[in-house]
Amino acid sequence: MDDFRDRVAVITGGASGIGRAIGLALADAGAHVVVADIDTPLAEQTAGEIAARGVRSLAVETDVAERDSVEALAERACEEFGAVHLLFNNAGVAMHGSLAEMSEQDWQWVLSVNLWGQLHGVRAFLPRIREQLQRGGGEAHIVNTASLNGVVARNNAHGVYTASKYAVVGYSFVLREELAAEGIGVSVLCPSMMDTGLLTAGRNRQQRYGGPLTQPPMPIPPRREPADPAIMAPRILDGVRENRRFIFTHPDTRGVVEEYQAELIADYDALDRALAAAEEGVAAS
Ligand SMILES: NC(=O)c1ccc[n+]([C@@H]2O[C@H](COP(=O)([O-])OP(=O)(O)OC[C@H]3O[C@@H](n4cnc5c(N)ncnc54)[C@H](O)[C@@H]3O)[C@@H](O)[C@H]2O)c1
Repeated sequence: MDDFRDRVAVITGGASGIGRAIGLALADAGAHVVVADIDTPLAEQTAGEIAARGVRSLAVETDVAERDSVEALAERACEEFGAVHLLFNNAGVAMHGSLAEMSEQDWQWVLSVNLWGQLHGVRAFLPRIREQLQRGGGEAHIVNTASLNGVVARNNAHGVYTASKYAVVGYSFVLREELAAEGIGVSVLCPSMMDTGLLTAGRNRQQRYGGPLTQPPMPIPPRREPADPAIMAPRILDGVRENRRFIFTHPDTRGVVEEYQAELIADYDALDRALAAAEEGVAAS
């Protein structure tokens, strides 16, 4: 999709941070935006900022972890705008701590928002998008927000988050291949560190997962300044325009991925060496 003018976008977690920045950039490109978020006052404020740029915008209170809530969002968006061309499954939460100290409730909260939130999004919107494409309704693209933590797993005190984002990457790749023939693009967004509300994600934790959570500040790697999402949003839209499989945001993280890939391949080298040694052993005996 190379032109966003008069397209309709739904952004979950659209009230704050990366979602908000994408919404504002889309508005600048002429798209209408549905801001779906569990934080209703902030969603309304962001929808107001988006509408001030001369497009239509609507705030819809949504808990992505609840299937019925996401279904109601899809219903409302289609009713108001007649179609949805861009779905950003972006809502996400994080908490830190070692895997051993995470409770079952911690796992349920993070997985239900970060993974199930995206599954609910696709399950609610895909049938409607398919129907609209069959009616000749143009193009469609889905962007699932993962993280660099969905590509590189390290002991960074974010094990639950990392597991959720790896699942998002795997899910998104398969979805991309499944939908390619229908002309529906799928990208997985893998941002690195940005200056957003993610460090205080516990503010939105639902009562059923224990209610609002305050954690001491997360350890942030030294020498890395979190980036301004407003600078990153146009890069993200470029990735959609080009229907990229991965949308990365920080060019300086290339080395981290290369290093990680080299470690994977090193284990193949180890396997080759072990098999060669075993063969030599057989030949010598
Ligand atoms: N900030 C970063 O450094 C960074 C890096 C990599 C990936 N990400 C990912 O980017 C996405 C956006 O996060 P952000 O950094 O902009 O954080 P943010 O906290 O600023 O924005 C997240 C938004 O999601 C909303 N939200 C939380 N739970 C929700 C729920 N159950 N239903 C609906 N909305 C809910 C919040 O109210 C908030 O508006 C997340 O998926 C996050 O994992 C962020």
